[in-house]
Order: sequence, then C-alpha cells, then structure tokens
Amino acid sequence: MTSNKPAFMNFTVDHMTLLLHPKLYAVAYPVFRIVFGVTPDDILYDKRRPAKGNNPEKSMTFATRIGEWEAKEKENLNTIIAVVQPSEPEGEQSHVRDMLDGHEQAAHWQHIALRTPDLISFYKHALEHGVQFVTPILKDEHDNLIQVFSGEWFLPNGKASGLFFEFLQRDPSTEEIAEIQKANKQTWFRDETFLGLYGEKEREYRSGKVIPFLPDDLFNSIYNYVSDKQMWQVTEADLAHIKTMMQDFAKKNNNKV
Ligand SMILES: [Fe+2]
Repeated sequence: MTSNKPAFMNFTVDHMTLLLHPKLYAVAYPVFRIVFGVTPDDILYDKRRPAKGNNPEKSMTFATRIGEWEAKEKENLNTIIAVVQPSEPEGEQSHVRDMLDGHEQAAHWQHIALRTPDLISFYKHALEHGVQFVTPILKDEHDNLIQVFSGEWFLPNGKASGLFFEFLQRDPSTEEIAEIQKANKQTWFRDETFLGLYGEKEREYRSGKVIPFLPDDLFNSIYNYVSDKQMWQVTEADLAHIKTMMQDFAKKNNNKV
C-alpha cells in the first residue's frame, strides 16, 4: 500500500450482491453465461428452496465468478468507491435525485465498474449480442483509462432501476486510443468522462426514455425461452440457442460494431 494505512484496512471487492426481480433473475443467468463469458465452473454456488406442497423446487440464489486476475508485480489493483450526490438546486431536474427519490432510497449503488484487459473486444462482443450502451467508449484523459457505460437493468416497460455497469480498461495502448478516436465523434472526447456520463444520464432521465441493458424485445424473447426453467435446468443447448437469438437480434437491428 502506498499510504501508512494499516493493512487490516486494505480492502478489495470480494463480491457484490444484486437483488433481482424474478423476471430479471431468469434472464440474468443466460446474460452472465453469454455476455460475461461465465462457464459452468464459474458458478460458485447455487442454492435452492426445497419443494413444498404445490411449490416446486426453486432457485434462491447463485454466485458466479466473472473474472480471475493474476497479480502482476508492481501493478496494484485499486479498490475504489465513488460517491455522488444530487448537486443541482432544488426544483432543477436531476437524474441523481430521481434515482434516489424514485426508489425511496437515501443511498443506492448506481454502477459497478468491471475492469477488462481488452475493452474494445468486450464492447464489440457485447454489441454483437444486443447489449445496449449509453455512451460509446470514452477516454478519460485524467486517469489514462477508457470506459463505456451499459444500459440499466430493469424490466421491459418498467421503471428504470438506476443500476448499470461500467466496463473499463486501464492504460490503453496508443493503437487502442487511435481506434476509439476513429470510431467516436469528436464531441465524445471529454476531459472528464464523469461529466460525459452525467450529462448523458441527465438527458435520458429528462426525456423519460432510459436505455435498458437489453432491448425490450430481446429481453422478452430470452425470458420466454427460460421462464419455465430454474437456472440449473438451463442447458448448454438452451444457451447456444439464446446466444444465436441475441446475435440475430443484434444483426437485424444493425447494432453498430
Ligand atoms: Fe464509474
């Protein structure tokens, strides 16, 4: 550690727990398998509520590993919490206030940033499977990182949850920067990407059209396909089918890659 902070206060993220509506829970498993590349071995546990009376056995919870980073000497992996408050004056529109007030919450985990060693490849893969993003890949001049923000996790026609993912890569190469620069409009280059995301979320909340992680139609197709199965009953063949469904959907809707 760089400071003289005691070792017992050197935290890293061990896991994150996400409470999900049953419909989102059903779609989450194929999304983790296909979009996040989770293998059956990565499912660390799955706990089931035993059948009782007319109620069949039901999935209660599962945990999945989504990455395994080898520690490289001298390269520290930071663990960071960022906090945001609605700083707009009372009466002025604020998506941050909407996210809090709309859920009757004084605190809300807004996004989880997942670090990847190759953001451009992940972004392309996600787009090819219908995943929607609020921004193109942004470059943070300050921190020498590139990042992109996904749509929010909520139900079709439902209320926006205020929860989304950030995917980021630290220390991108000059070639990677050039590739992003070529794909992006000049206006997307911000000194401070926090403001880029902030402005984009504000526009979304103001327009009342918050972009979901998956388009509604695609979400519904996946849900209909797995709705009568518990997560442990979803087979590799089912996942292959869903993967094709996602790719076809993305192709048909000209998701720009
Ligand atoms: Fe972030």
